[in-house]
Amino acid sequence: MFKFLPVDWHDSLPSTNTYLVAALKETPKLPSGTVVVAREQHAGRGRQHRPWLTPPNQNLTFSFVWRETMPEQYVPAMAQALSVGIAQFLQGYGLTPTIKWPNDLLVEGKKIGGILCERVNLRDSSQVAVVAGIGLNVNLDAVTAAKIDQPATSILLETGLTGELPTVLDELLEQLVAPLHAWSQRGFPGIRADYEAFGWARGSAIRVRDGESYLSGNHGGYNEDGALVLKVDGGEKICYSGDIGLA
Ligand code: BTN
Repeated sequence: MFKFLPVDWHDSLPSTNTYLVAALKETPKLPSGTVVVAREQHAGRGRQHRPWLTPPNQNLTFSFVWRETMPEQYVPAMAQALSVGIAQFLQGYGLTPTIKWPNDLLVEGKKIGGILCERVNLRDSSQVAVVAGIGLNVNLDAVTAAKIDQPATSILLETGLTGELPTVLDELLEQLVAPLHAWSQRGFPGIRADYEAFGWARGSAIRVRDGESYLSGNHGGYNEDGALVLKVDGGEKICYSGDIGLA
């Protein structure tokens, strides 16, 4: 069973994902479960080539190594498994999170966390290797939140509770183990019920943006890989990547 190893804290890194991808390429035997956290990231990266900006010491920015033997077709749903774990963790604070496909964590329609999974090809290994990075807004304050280019919130803003980052991280890691296990055994079907319970905008008219391309239709749920099913005139389109918004 997968286990997180003791956490390696850094004061400042460009990006915990960049750091661990390089470390894994240099040391392919880096164990699965290695976790790196940065109190400050100065080149944090988000999905779809966006930056991930977060002030020093306020929020969690961390990455871990996943290196396991498992079916290749399960891999794309890893971030969705993590989103389930984070959503369940936020429920523990009395919050009502939603997951906007594929893996944006929202509370009251505002972004509270995100996930960036990056595949690493290991030479001479048939294992699946991924660096999974998570940003979770823990103590983000209202003034800083207002400067972010999209509506954002934090555990502090939603509950009034200030979190000790090492404690919050330990509790969150514990919560991620079960959905990671369910996903690694069965792929997206292993987490489907939980993922759908947190789902956002199912049945609504949406727009899917993937790079420079846009599609419109109705949110029709997810296929067996966790890809979005978009109902369009005359049928369905399956979307494997992108962002969704209400049309
Ligand atoms: C998103 O766009 O929603 C994904 C954001 C992922 C941010 C995290 S913070 C820790 C890790 N390091 C990075 O540079 N990005 C991820």
